[in-house]
Amino acid sequence: MSKNKNNKPVWSSRINQKNISAFQKIGSSLNFDKRLFREDISASIVHVEMLEKQKIISLSIKNKIVWGLKRILNEIIKKKFTFDERNEDIHMSIEKRLFEILGDDAGFIHTARSRNDQVLTDLKIWLKKSTNEIIEELDMTMKIFLKSAEKNIDTIMPGFTHLKNAQPISFAHYLNAYIEMFLRDKKRFKNNLENLNENPLGVAAFSGTSFNIDRIYTTKKLNFEKPTRNSIDTVSDRDFVCDFLYSVSICSIHISRFSEEFIIWNSDIFNLINLNDKIVTGSSIMPQKKNPDPLEYLRGKSGITMGNLISMMTILKGLPLSYFKDLQDDKELIFSSFDHIKSCLRVLREVLTNFTPNKKRMLKLTKVGHITATDLADFIVKDLNYPFRKAYSITSKIVNMAEKKGKVINELSLKEIRSIDKKINENVLKVIDTRNSVISKKSYGGTSFENIKKVIKKYKKEING
Ligand code: ARG
Repeated sequence: MSKNKNNKPVWSSRINQKNISAFQKIGSSLNFDKRLFREDISASIVHVEMLEKQKIISLSIKNKIVWGLKRILNEIIKKKFTFDERNEDIHMSIEKRLFEILGDDAGFIHTARSRNDQVLTDLKIWLKKSTNEIIEELDMTMKIFLKSAEKNIDTIMPGFTHLKNAQPISFAHYLNAYIEMFLRDKKRFKNNLENLNENPLGVAAFSGTSFNIDRIYTTKKLNFEKPTRNSIDTVSDRDFVCDFLYSVSICSIHISRFSEEFIIWNSDIFNLINLNDKIVTGSSIMPQKKNPDPLEYLRGKSGITMGNLISMMTILKGLPLSYFKDLQDDKELIFSSFDHIKSCLRVLREVLTNFTPNKKRMLKLTKVGHITATDLADFIVKDLNYPFRKAYSITSKIVNMAEKKGKVINELSLKEIRSIDKKINENVLKVIDTRNSVISKKSYGGTSFENIKKVIKKYKKEING
């Protein structure tokens, strides 16, 4: 537990017996929250500057504390600081060291604040910085998707529904689908910044303080936009933690879906992409194997980030206001999700720069499954002015006939097609061509080459914006 300079917990004046050691272990968060040392020290400096400005502490005490805190910062950076689990968390560890350096004067630091508002201030500052880091990582990732999309505008492949060949698409259109997902992720992270910009510092334990503090001053100095408005809500609120964990989860679900797809496409059966040796691993027994481990890692990690979200929501559900120790684990979940999403985005970029689409195989697969049947039905609607359902039924007959002959519909002759409905004109042969099908999907958001070129231009502007 937290000790003062006499090596006793700060609450030893009230609590007579030493805590059992098993509790000390479970109660300590130092191992993970030491990551907040920079934020903790800079928030403490602003806090004592405000106390001095408000004449709550003297100038000389403030100067001493600021000097002591800067010295501690230096010690931590230079790895000369001893982190002792018995000091419970980063806040107590720094305070204890301050006592060692300054003696009793260190005790002024905790005037008009509690660890409850202190930890939230540190955490929000850390989350703002880290959210911006993820946004940058997303930008870098989208740029690589974009590069690949630009190279593959006229790479034609079958698009799938139910994993069955369905309609021809451009491979770039598929890649752009992921750009859309990551743009939404970016927006989600940006939106989170609004709540993160509310400053918790100064609500103290949970009911505010009778000291004449200036929360607007600390808000400005710590780069928040405004102070939080309700002290009870402030120390109880972990919505912003859930928002972060949710945003990471959705982003990692996107990465996971992409990975699953690439794992399937890389299988010997599909063989739609090739992964180069930088992103495969071997087998310990089967000498011929090249396994897509990095993609499997990306798919698997989403399980952890989603688990972190569920853990936080479960901790919160049913927790009365205001602060409870249950909340301490929020940081471990946040750090875990942050570390995972950062490394996943990095690995994803490696995957994207180290694969090649197997264009021949993609094209070959477009010959399987009558994938221009919808184009044929649409043509019949337009050409013969039939209701879509009638055209659908005629097309089904054409597909059945082709299947009987062991052909796909775009291998049929005009005569064969007309044997089902003699009014169908010869333009049908152009319509059921795979490439023409892609070109024809000009509706807004469709896969036509023209659309893709336009949208790529838009992405280029949006990604850095
Ligand atoms: N390490 C604690 C946490 O992260 C700091 C807050 C402690 N507050 C308290 N009332 N015990 O939750």
